[in-house]
Amino acid sequence: MSAFTVPEVKLSSSSSDRKMPVTGLGTAVDNIDENAVKVAVLEAVKLGYRHFDTASLYGTEKALGAAIAEALRLGLVSSREELFITTKLWCNDAHRDLVVPALKKSLRTLQMEYIDLFLIHWPISAKPSDKYVCPIAKEDLLPMDFKGVWEGMEECQRLGLTKSIGVSNFSSKKIETILAFATIPPSVNQVEMNPAWQQKKLIEFCKSKSIIVTAFSPLGAIGSSWGTKQVMGNEALKQIAKAHGKTVAQICLRWIIEQGATIAVKSFNKERLKENLGIFDWALTDDDYDKINQIQQQRLMPKDDELASLFDVFNKV
Ligand SMILES: NC(=O)c1ccc[n+]([C@@H]2O[C@H](COP(=O)([O-])OP(=O)(O)OC[C@H]3O[C@@H](n4cnc5c(N)ncnc54)[C@H](OP(=O)(O)O)[C@@H]3O)[C@@H](O)[C@H]2O)c1
Repeated sequence: MSAFTVPEVKLSSSSSDRKMPVTGLGTAVDNIDENAVKVAVLEAVKLGYRHFDTASLYGTEKALGAAIAEALRLGLVSSREELFITTKLWCNDAHRDLVVPALKKSLRTLQMEYIDLFLIHWPISAKPSDKYVCPIAKEDLLPMDFKGVWEGMEECQRLGLTKSIGVSNFSSKKIETILAFATIPPSVNQVEMNPAWQQKKLIEFCKSKSIIVTAFSPLGAIGSSWGTKQVMGNEALKQIAKAHGKTVAQICLRWIIEQGATIAVKSFNKERLKENLGIFDWALTDDDYDKINQIQQQRLMPKDDELASLFDVFNKV
């Protein structure tokens, strides 16, 4: 029996009855240590995590797949169907005829027959290459053929390679573009979201289209090369945490689920993995909201129409 049961949400256009657990474990890291990924995933499964977030870019698909195979072998979960696995299409493969082969490659790396959610990682394409790099050289960036790429995503779902499809880092305008021709609408938009980048308009828009928003960098990615201290170091959040006897991380994560969004949070530390699940049996107050609503807004990632310069962001200290 796991220590925590994570609530779940239904995805609007999934081909599966499997719902998405509201907390997913992120696996994006600066330097990959496959053993550390494996140990963390196994620990997470023991605690009750059932949703794992990776991407072909991250280089963690192999270790995640090995950990899941091990969890099944050890009987920590009784079947693959109990788990929810998300991976993403990298920009080099964001071309009509490369989408299905890219997911097949991810599935081989994950040692899986299907995933639960496949996302377009960013709304841009890059020249085809099997070497995924970030930053992408500016001369390799291309505008995306949204219709063609989305057809490829839909084909992945129709072939049963993924149970649902979605987007990441998409503005409402770009989602409207997809919705204009989609026969399977996106189930999810995964975007940066935390108390210092609240995404209020995008959340409302996605709700109106039955699209679940998943918050990445919910703690401001503290400690990573793309991260900031402006979330975990925020004084108002510290005061709220103190008043509740919770941590700042728990305040951030609780705030996200109260917005109706879901979470991708990364921790490979046993205590913090546990801490990040301690958010389901208490609530924020109106006073807390007064404080959180006043937090100065500043995004970590650039806007999607500034993506040509996005990749410099990953070089910032
Ligand atoms: N779609 C996209 O473009 C995109 C972009 C970025 C991220 N993501 C996904 O979202 C996931 C999460 O985002 P993220 O990794 O950028 O940032 P994050 O989850 O906000 O922050 C991760 C950092 O916070 C630390 N941490 C975790 N829990 C903590 C706690 N309770 N107290 C103090 N520190 C804590 C972690 O260190 P320890 O491991 O030492 O605990 C790690 O350094 C990623 O791993 C990835 O799967 C997606």
